[in-house]
Amino acid sequence: MELKERVFSGMQPTGSLHLGNYLGAMVQWIEMQKTHECIYCVVDLHAITVWQDPKELRDAIRQVTAAYIASGLDPKTSILFNQSQVAAHAELAWVFNCVARLGWLNRMTQFKEKAGKDRENASVGLYAYPNLMAADILAYRATHVPVGEDQKQHLELARDIAQKFNNDFRAEIEAKGYADGLFFPQPEPVITGPATRVMSLRDGTKKMSKSDPSDLSRINLTDDADTIARKVQKAKTDPEPLPSETAGLAGRPEADNLVGIYAALAGKTKAGVLAEFGGQQFSAFKKSFAEVAVGRLGPIGEEVRRLTADPAEIDRVLADGSARARAIAAPIMDEVKDIVGLIRS
Ligand code: AMP
Ligand code: TRP
Repeated sequence: MELKERVFSGMQPTGSLHLGNYLGAMVQWIEMQKTHECIYCVVDLHAITVWQDPKELRDAIRQVTAAYIASGLDPKTSILFNQSQVAAHAELAWVFNCVARLGWLNRMTQFKEKAGKDRENASVGLYAYPNLMAADILAYRATHVPVGEDQKQHLELARDIAQKFNNDFRAEIEAKGYADGLFFPQPEPVITGPATRVMSLRDGTKKMSKSDPSDLSRINLTDDADTIARKVQKAKTDPEPLPSETAGLAGRPEADNLVGIYAALAGKTKAGVLAEFGGQQFSAFKKSFAEVAVGRLGPIGEEVRRLTADPAEIDRVLADGSARARAIAAPIMDEVKDIVGLIRS
């Protein structure tokens, strides 16, 4: 049996999406719709690995769905849905909890960052988070996973889980007719967005993130033109003028980040941006930066606001996507149960 190419990716509904999500992942997701069967998920089960207010969670699930659509994901060609509506994610995650080793999870840097000093008080779900992520992908036997740079380690773990499952159950898998014991594919990370690591506007050494307490650190997809302009104005810089060549960005994290974001938004290279602004002060650059950002994100924000005004319609999109996702994942989960030796009716 041949493995078909299939794309899977997801984002957490924990606040509104920002420029890092957009440039690091979403732009690539949109591109891949042209060539692949794509499944894009709002990973609500991942969100609850840390405390979420239930009402805010509901709103965030709908908001992220709206942002997917507003950015250019098409709910007719691609499958858009929320994770908790498809039981296979949680079921396969349990099987993977029993395949993955403690030692593997102990190496995950994101857990260490998120759990912080108070590790004893982190939820068990936060620790097992990468196993659920592997289940998301492999429940569809997806082959390509477009993500930002920060997800690389989790993808490596998903590959290790796929391989260990294939090895552990090789006899059963071959008995089902899978050549070379290849039941799960090795999912490949696709880390090729226009900016795979967008940094905070307040600190060029920190990742732009939903969880940063300062809203000035990020540009949200729903920020209006005035807010975007203000955040760009307040973005941290250094006292030197912009360099004329990319080599001059070394050791200047804030300048490097802003030039990288500008290039990604304008569809230019960093060298091209510096050819234009090299030798100038940040003020002129920032003015142009704000215009480019507003031009690109303004229409997305407006569309998100329009879509979220009708939550019932968003829920219909999610119900439809979930039904289509279930139709793919349920038979795969049935086979997993057979392979592992669980009896089903
Ligand atoms: P999350 O917001 O953690 O659910 O991330 C959703 C997607 O956006 C993942 O593919 C991340 O790798 C990507 N992403 C999140 N933050 C950034 C960032 N600052 N730069 C680039 N990609 C990011
Ligand atoms: N862990 C990812 C993040 O925080 C989100 C995610 C969950 C995901 N499941 C996934 C991404 C499956 C790709 C594939 O960004």
